[in-house]
Order: sequence, then C-alpha cells, then structure tokens
Amino acid sequence: MSDLAGKHIVLGLSGGIACYKAAELCRALIREGATVQVVMTEAAAQFITPVTMQALSNQPVFSSQWDSREPNNMPHINLSRDADAILVAPCSADFMAKLLHGRADELLSLMCLARPIAAVPLLLAPAMNREMWAHPATQRNMAQLSADGAHILGVGSGFQACGETGDGRMLEPMELLEDLIAFFQPKLLAGKRVLVTAGPTFEALDPIRGITNHSSGKMGFAIARAAREAGAEVTLVAGPVSLATPRGVTRVDVKSALQMLEATMKEEPRADIFFATAAVADWRPVTHSKEKIKKEGAGKDPVVAFTENPDILLTVAQGQRARSGELYCVGFAAETHDLVAHARAKLARKGIPLIVGNIGPLTFGLEDNQLLLVDRHGVQEFPRASKVALARRLVAEVARRLPAAA
Ligand code: C5P
Repeated sequence: MSDLAGKHIVLGLSGGIACYKAAELCRALIREGATVQVVMTEAAAQFITPVTMQALSNQPVFSSQWDSREPNNMPHINLSRDADAILVAPCSADFMAKLLHGRADELLSLMCLARPIAAVPLLLAPAMNREMWAHPATQRNMAQLSADGAHILGVGSGFQACGETGDGRMLEPMELLEDLIAFFQPKLLAGKRVLVTAGPTFEALDPIRGITNHSSGKMGFAIARAAREAGAEVTLVAGPVSLATPRGVTRVDVKSALQMLEATMKEEPRADIFFATAAVADWRPVTHSKEKIKKEGAGKDPVVAFTENPDILLTVAQGQRARSGELYCVGFAAETHDLVAHARAKLARKGIPLIVGNIGPLTFGLEDNQLLLVDRHGVQEFPRASKVALARRLVAEVARRLPAAA
C-alpha cells in the first residue's frame, strides 16, 4: 500500500525520550510513499542524532534558523511551503507552550509560526511524563492550540521511561502513521454513526467444539477503518477473529449469531448506516451440551440437530428506522457462482438499497478483493484492489447515496 504517495511531510522533533520512536515513524512514512523532511530542535538532538534521521529520511536534516544551505537563508519559510503537513512527534510540553505563545526563537517553532496556516496543517503528537500531561497548564495549552487550528493526536497510556505509569506516552509509530493517513481522507461521513458486523460466527456444540466458517473479517474491519477515516463514529460487532481493532473504532466482540444479533440491535437505534459484512452461520445446534460430548463407541455416530439462526440484516432492514430511510443498510453476498443473479435476489429478499457481491473463495483470508455493487438501478464493478482501498471507495459510494441532511 502507498497511502501517503505524493505527500510531503515535515517531521518535527522536539526534545523528549520519545525521539527514539521518531526513527521508526520516519521509516514508516517513507514506506507508505511519503517524502520526509526532518527538522529537529537542539534538545531533540540530545536524544537522537541528525545523522540517524538524515540516513532514514534520505534528506539533510535542518536544526538551525541560521542554516546557510538555503540560498535565501530562510529555512523556516522554504521548508514549510511545499509541505502537505507538519507533524511534530514528539511534541514536548515545552514545545506546546512555545507554539501557544507564537514564540519563534529556534527553527522548528519559527517554521510552525511561519507556515501558511490554511494550507499546511500542523499535527502534534504529545509526549511527556504523566504529571506533566495532567498539569492544568498542559491541558489548557492543548485546548488553545486546538482552537488555534492545530490537530492534537492522542497519547498512549502505560509504563513510561521515567518509571511511572500513566497517560502521556507518545503514540506508537504505527498508530501515528494510521492517524496521519486518516487525517488526509475526505470527511465524507462526519457526524454519522456507522455500525458494522464482521467475521464469522461460532456456534458451539459443546465447550470444546462448534461450527464456524472461513470468513477472516478483513473486509468488515477495512470498512470500519474507512468509515472512521471518513469521520464517522464507528461500532464494529466482531465475531471470533484475531484482527487488530482499527484506531478510533469501538469494538464489541461476540461469538454466536444470537450474541451478534443482540449486540447489533443494541446499537441499531443510534446508527445511520449499517454494513452487514459478517458471515453469520445459517444454523446452530439445537442443544449446547454443558460437557464434552463423548464418543459412544464404534459405529455409534452422533446425531446433531440444527435450527436456523435469525437473519440479522433482515431483522434490521425490517425495522422502522431502515424502512423510513433513517438507517441505510448495506448487505454482502459471498457466492461461488452467478454473483449478479444471487445478489439481485438478495436485494429483493432483504429489502435493502445496496448489496455488495464478492466471490467467497477469491476473498476469504486475502488482503485484496473485488466487489460488485448491485442496486435497483444496476451493477457497478470495483476491480481488484486492497480491501482498505475498496472499503474507502464503498464508503464514498454510500456517502453519496445518503439522503441529504434536512
Ligand atoms: O442470506 P445471506 O446469508 O446469503 O445474506 C448475506 C447477507 O446477510 C450478509 O450481509 C450477511 O452479513 C447478512 N446476514 C445476517 N444474518 C444472517 C445471515 C446473513 O446478517 N443470519
């Protein structure tokens, strides 16, 4: 993936032990296709050398406002003019205080002040001891910096380099990367609530065994991520999968179809869009033995009776909110053949505005997929791409179809 292709990021480092994470962040940005210009304060150079950052960014590092390598001797102007964003990571408590007051006595703060404020966003990744983080001065500065147009990324929580435990650690490089990628996505679903079901369900026979299917949950997780990137508040009801929760998404873990139905119906009254991507088991065993079912001896095969599971999508689609158009439902169809015909039939059966078809064996467990959007007007094909790229296209398509806000 190259989610930052064509983006030029100025990576600012202020003084803090989290500078060691900036090296990994720099590499991650470049791996995603960005070009990176590093600007460091003198304090940052106490924690990590410009040599390291130059080698990783493949660009000379700037640290001084008197750097005469620039023909006009104005690195604070030149460096920010072609940036798509300035990301200060780590952003120390002291650096925040400087930004707040518009101080400009060294290159990094000078450059932040001199940036074209409407064209070059400033993102800050705070990093400090938990007491410094909780201090009213820091919290006050942060609120004012937000009001001044800076984007404050969160902080991590846990064991800190000082030996204390609490909030204030810099986010991990991969978390910062995800946040930056999300930052650049258009906010097509701002203010919307999105509900997603994903993964398989597991229908227990006894405490040891059960029936499930090959769904990996990757498409549903990608949709949850894309919806969050588009600015929505997202709840992801996930069957048993071992995927990482996309950043900023609320996850509810369930096992069986009945649990998935319950969790879904709890969220349904607040949702604006429902993506039913889960591969819900059609049947569950009628009885669930409390103890392991034992072999009874040669020739005595067990007989398991099944009963049909509730159709979660159908239940939601038949509800008052979906029928009145308040809730937009998107169903999925995983087939092995005759995709269009099956998808059309499903559209009618479930009474929903949009079905997304895919070929089961060509998607299960894979990182990429291809989709067919089927609605009452016709068929639209999304050619093979990564699941995240397809999810972003699907989210944009759904956003376009939502009724305009009154
Ligand atoms: O009826 P069928 O299983 O083919 O339909 C697939 C669509 O319905 C998917 O969107 C799936 O998430 C949803 N579904 C559901 N509950 C079920 C079965 C399917 O929500 N019990």
